[in-house]
Amino acid sequence: MLNKDDFSALAHSRRSTRDFLPDLVSDADLDDVLEDGMSAPSWSNTRPFMFAIATGDQRDRISAALVARLQENAEVPGMGMNPDYTHETPYPPGLIERSQRVGKGIYDTLGIDRADKESRFRFMQRNYEFFGAPVALFFFAHRGLGHFGTLDLGLFMEAAMLSAEARGLGTCAQGYLGNYPDIIKAEFEVPDEYALVCGMSLGYHSDHPINSWEAERLPLSEMTANLRVN
Ligand SMILES: Cc1cc2nc3c(=O)[nH]c(=O)nc-3n(C[C@H](O)[C@H](O)[C@H](O)COP(=O)(O)O)c2cc1C
Repeated sequence: MLNKDDFSALAHSRRSTRDFLPDLVSDADLDDVLEDGMSAPSWSNTRPFMFAIATGDQRDRISAALVARLQENAEVPGMGMNPDYTHETPYPPGLIERSQRVGKGIYDTLGIDRADKESRFRFMQRNYEFFGAPVALFFFAHRGLGHFGTLDLGLFMEAAMLSAEARGLGTCAQGYLGNYPDIIKAEFEVPDEYALVCGMSLGYHSDHPINSWEAERLPLSEMTANLRVN
């Protein structure tokens, strides 16, 4: 039985990795990570999601297509993004401030000035280069189960990310990888009922300073809906 302190240490040591070594991930490790993802609970055990793995030439081809699309749309409002799942932009009040703190933390760590649009664009582009990771994963949710498709997918992703962490592998879940679904769907056999949600980069983390930056862990008190007595 896993010691509770070991579990907490593992859970808290998982951090998004945004710079990877080119070192390959073994098929055995990749299989184990995905199998561990399947340990997550799921609505009526329907597992209303699919995933696709890109490595080698296919990974490079997808990355090149995503980067080209981003660059072609650099001056277009919304950068030509057409995700299957949309959300409010700008983010709603109360959430935008948290998101802005992440952006500031990342750009400050990289020494990128707020006004330096070129460097910010270049870092955005790194998302489509999978931050150098050798493995890119793409995730799809069945439209028919509504929010449970994306919810169950998220549970799968977290279980897989913790498994990766336990193997010394870094991960970064990436909403950016859901922005140009036609490019991703052209590479895999994705049934029409499945919509692209997001992706994930996976590999071994480098010692780049961006990997030392830690997003704040918000206090539980900001999340609790319980009424306060005092
Ligand atoms: C669904 C989802 C999408 C995300 N999309 C991106 C992304 O596109 N690019 C990125 O750099 N980080 C992305 N992240 C990582 C978050 O910024 C990160 O999880 C958050 O700041 C907390 O930091 P931590 O993962 O290091 O604990 C995403 C995370 C999730 C769960």
